[in-house]
Amino acid sequence: MKKMNLVLGVSALAILVGCDSGSDYTPAADASGENIFSTACTECHKPISADVAIIISEGVANKEAIINKVQSGSMRMTAFPNIQGDAADRLAEYVLANSATQ
Ligand code: HEC
Repeated sequence: MKKMNLVLGVSALAILVGCDSGSDYTPAADASGENIFSTACTECHKPISADVAIIISEGVANKEAIINKVQSGSMRMTAFPNIQGDAADRLAEYVLANSATQ
C-alpha cells in the first residue's frame, strides 16, 4: 500500500510540473510548418502579428538551434521529441521566415 501511494504521488507531481514531461504530439507527414506551429506552439507563442509569429534571440535564429530547442524544450517550454526530420525542417523554416529577431 505504501508503494502504491508513492507511485501515485510521483505521477501527480509529473502532472503539476507538466512542461518537462514533453509532448507526444506527432505532426502528420505532410503537415506544413505553419500548420505545426499553429497546432503545437501558439498555446505559448502567441503570434504577434500576421507577419511575426515569434520574436527570437539572435543567437538561436538558425534552423539547427530551433530544431534543437523544439526537441529538447526547457524548464518552461514543452519538449516535442516527435517533431523530427522533414517536419522539423519545415517548422524551423516557418519560424525563421516569420520571426523578428532581437
Ligand atoms: C508550454 C509553453 C511553450 C510551448 C508549447 C512552446 N514553447 Fe517555445 N518557448 C517557451 C518559453 C517560455 C520560451 C522562452 C524560455 C526558454 O527559452 O526556455 C520558449 C522559447 C522558444 C524558442 C527560443 C526563443 C529565443 O529567442 O530564445 C524557440 C525557437 C521556440 N520557443 C520555439 C517553439 C516552437 C517552434 C514551438 C512549437 C513546436 C514551441 N516553442 C512551443 C514556451 C513554449
